[in-house]
Amino acid sequence: MSSPLHSPQGNWWIAGVSVLEKTWIRISVVWCLLLFASMIVWASYGKQNQAGPTYRVSTAEFMQKVQDFKKAGTQTEDGIIPADEHVYVAAARFSFDGFPVVLEAGKQYQVHMSSYDVQHGLSIRPEHALSKQMSLQLLPDYEWVLPMKFDEPGVYHVVCNEFCGVGHRTMHGSFIVRR
Ligand code: CUA
Repeated sequence: MSSPLHSPQGNWWIAGVSVLEKTWIRISVVWCLLLFASMIVWASYGKQNQAGPTYRVSTAEFMQKVQDFKKAGTQTEDGIIPADEHVYVAAARFSFDGFPVVLEAGKQYQVHMSSYDVQHGLSIRPEHALSKQMSLQLLPDYEWVLPMKFDEPGVYHVVCNEFCGVGHRTMHGSFIVRR
């Protein structure tokens, strides 16, 4: 009886691989190939992918864009109602600029995002289902434009999900979505 506790007897290394082991190796090779193929298919056709163009932008330029967005929008107690479908938000150590933003449910917006300093995260979580989360990464010098549509009204919390320094945990924002 072979056991990992006892040394195997005889010329065990020249014994052929058993049919059972060969079968499992074949199954795992096929499974690996299937997973590899699904990765390509998923990346090309999956609706989960965050599409949207990215543009080069300087920190000063993007700061100006966020200021213009805040000025053009309507300031309310809950946050800024954008003047049009374009929303500009930025992350910086250690807060977000542009939030809170008040949006209409079911309307498509173009959300322009960037960072003023280092790499930050932007995670969006609906208050009514905190386990659901969309995680994005924001980089300085890049303006990322993502189309976003919130189907359900409610509060969507925004947090930084990339460790960016001592104040990382204080980075909060929100999208307030109304009918
Ligand atoms: Cu910004 Cu963590």
